[in-house]
Amino acid sequence: MALSFEGRVVLVTGAGGGLGKEYALAFAERGASVVVNDLGADTKGGGKSSAAADKVVEEIRAKGGKAVANYDSVEDGEKLIQTALDTFGRIDIVVNNAGILRDRSFARTSDLDWDLIHRVHLRGSFLVTRAAWNHMKNQKFGRIIMTASAAGIYGNFGQANYSAAKLGMLGLSNTLAIEGRKNNIHCNTIAPVAGSRLTETVMPPDLVASLKPEYVAPMVLWLCHEQCQENGGLFELGAGWVGKLRWERSQGCTVRQKNQPMTPEAVRDQWDKICDFTDATKPNNIQESLQSVVSVLSQVESEGEVDANPTAALAPAASTSGINPAEAIGQKIPSTTFSFSHVQCILYALGVGMSTQDPDHLRFLYEGHSEFSALPTFGVIPSQAAMMEGGLSSVPGLDIDFTQVLHGEQYLEMLKPLPTSGTLTSEATVADVLDKGSGAIILLDVNTYSGNELICYNQFSVFVVGAGGFGGKRTSEKAKAALPPPNRAPDAVVIDSTTKDQAALYRLSGDWNPLHIDPDFAAMGGFKAPILHGLCSFGFAARHVLKHFAGNDPSRFKAIKVRFVKPVMPGQSLQTEMWKEGNRIHIQCKVKETDAVVLSGAYVDLHGSSEASPEDLPQGASLQSELVFAEIGRRIKDLGPELVKKVNAVFGWEITKDGKSSAEWTIDLKNGSGSLHKGPYSGKADVTLTLSDENFMEVVQGKLNPQKAFFSGKLKVRGNIMLSQKLEVILKDYAKL
Ligand code: NAI
Repeated sequence: MALSFEGRVVLVTGAGGGLGKEYALAFAERGASVVVNDLGADTKGGGKSSAAADKVVEEIRAKGGKAVANYDSVEDGEKLIQTALDTFGRIDIVVNNAGILRDRSFARTSDLDWDLIHRVHLRGSFLVTRAAWNHMKNQKFGRIIMTASAAGIYGNFGQANYSAAKLGMLGLSNTLAIEGRKNNIHCNTIAPVAGSRLTETVMPPDLVASLKPEYVAPMVLWLCHEQCQENGGLFELGAGWVGKLRWERSQGCTVRQKNQPMTPEAVRDQWDKICDFTDATKPNNIQESLQSVVSVLSQVESEGEVDANPTAALAPAASTSGINPAEAIGQKIPSTTFSFSHVQCILYALGVGMSTQDPDHLRFLYEGHSEFSALPTFGVIPSQAAMMEGGLSSVPGLDIDFTQVLHGEQYLEMLKPLPTSGTLTSEATVADVLDKGSGAIILLDVNTYSGNELICYNQFSVFVVGAGGFGGKRTSEKAKAALPPPNRAPDAVVIDSTTKDQAALYRLSGDWNPLHIDPDFAAMGGFKAPILHGLCSFGFAARHVLKHFAGNDPSRFKAIKVRFVKPVMPGQSLQTEMWKEGNRIHIQCKVKETDAVVLSGAYVDLHGSSEASPEDLPQGASLQSELVFAEIGRRIKDLGPELVKKVNAVFGWEITKDGKSSAEWTIDLKNGSGSLHKGPYSGKADVTLTLSDENFMEVVQGKLNPQKAFFSGKLKVRGNIMLSQKLEVILKDYAKL
């Protein structure tokens, strides 16, 4: 649809000619009421005439457009806005475009050359914009353009005054973008190139003629449209081309050591590293920028404490972060208690979008229902106190900045059905600490008890931005891994909308972080508006699975794993895609409106429908793989020596059922004439393969390629991974079924 400005009032400063005139005509053509401001000065700011603005107004009116002239200097900012209010009753858009030049080499720049340029460009833009600001704030709409210049961004001989003022406008724009965001006031900066009287002195005439202002105006219109959500951007444009600029920063280098003075020599010696843009970062805001600087403080201070050896700072393995895994792992957080009644259960169910509109939701919403139950994912609520109440900050070895903590992943396993009232106690332990370079991951295991009975187990995986680099391990066998969904279309898709008040409702279940309700707080975190709790989307996804694959029977819910990828805004719709693989339902959640994946690697494990709990079954009794191993055993008896020659390795097998280890096998094709036995190998197997009974069968039947199974996470391999290539010999050729 064409972009219309009907009903919008636009002020374009310096619109008597050049770029400004083109903007004024283009806005008017699309229905805007335009204030055409121009002092009618010469290029150096001298003289004054109403003719320039009048001509543009005439041209607009002749085409049936709405326009009024204003002849004040931008230094009288209030008067320009008053013209808009008096004539059209409002002000929606301000394009700060008026400009003059007083080019001189720096040595010859006079006070007047400096001041005049600053007064028109920087101070003029400030005064005009300030006069419009409160009107925009009150109407919760405003679009502002600042006009900078390549001369400011890169420098240009003879334009010291102009460069300084133009980049001053970019600084102004950057801050207005932040202050205006919550009131839907957006401010962007352009650095245009166009032929005009300002450029005809520096460019050849044919270039001036071909770089038309009409190749710049459409971008300005887009940035000023209500549909455009860009805010705080900087763009270069001209000749019909538009590009965006941003800052890039080298990884840099800390040139200071604990208890030692910082020296210019240390800076000199690291100069190449300081200026090396390999792996450069792109800080988006002042928080991201400061973070790396501030983290140096704790890095430097912690140096030497791990190792008193004065050369420790030179050793690459020396700790450079406030994290000391050896100290932190295994630490317990003081236990927390959670008392609740049916009220908290119902509030939680409402918080994750349950509704009386669905009759089968009533068992979670009405305490008088014959099957009234708590939703299984309510199991995260009693345990989260360990995180919320600052428990982590008391852990020795975890000296981290708690403003940099992100909730990365969550695992919940139900061991007993949740009661609908009572008091639960949670015991939290730091299970592991991982070093991901850009940050640290803390795995927190929380067991929640009713009396002595273990009700549920949660694993919180929290990512601490900027806390990596302490030389720790990158992966952990304690982590409950996220798993990718199968490579086929989902078996079921559910679309469910969140409401504008979803986060306001969900927080009543105990996550009071203002990020989910306070626009100012959200803005500080770099979000346009308060975001939905990740655990709220988690609750949505879980109940979609429960309804679709378990008839809303909470006793069938066994476990859930989720990775939080992107935030959801309250009011957006969640699209849960589900794949059934035995009793495991893989899930992926997207925001319907944007198609962005918000929960990934997720799955829900269900108990089978007939049995209350598969753990009650005799271990391994129902494994299909038993038959295959029996067959392999027979083949080894027949062809053992030949296989030993061909393969020369010991294979350990771990077959899982419903995510739990169910049977172990050893195929020894290294010693003697080969053997098979049930159970682990007495020594160290050359390679150990872990996979589910179902996937094992698929591999054997040639339906699942072992390499693919490995890359999709279905097959885990420890030891010499190359040996898995010999699987074909063992499985396919000799285990024909
Ligand atoms: P222009 O000289 O054609 O237009 C500037 C207009 O501003 C003139 O009509 C002038 O009368 C008016 N003006 C000057 N002082 C004023 C004041 N105190 N109050 C109200 N109006 C005033 O120049 P052009 O090229 O259209 O420039 C527009 C803007 O774009 C300027 O800010 C300029 O610095 C900037 N720019 C232009 C580039 C180009 O390639 N044309 C390159 C980079 C930036």
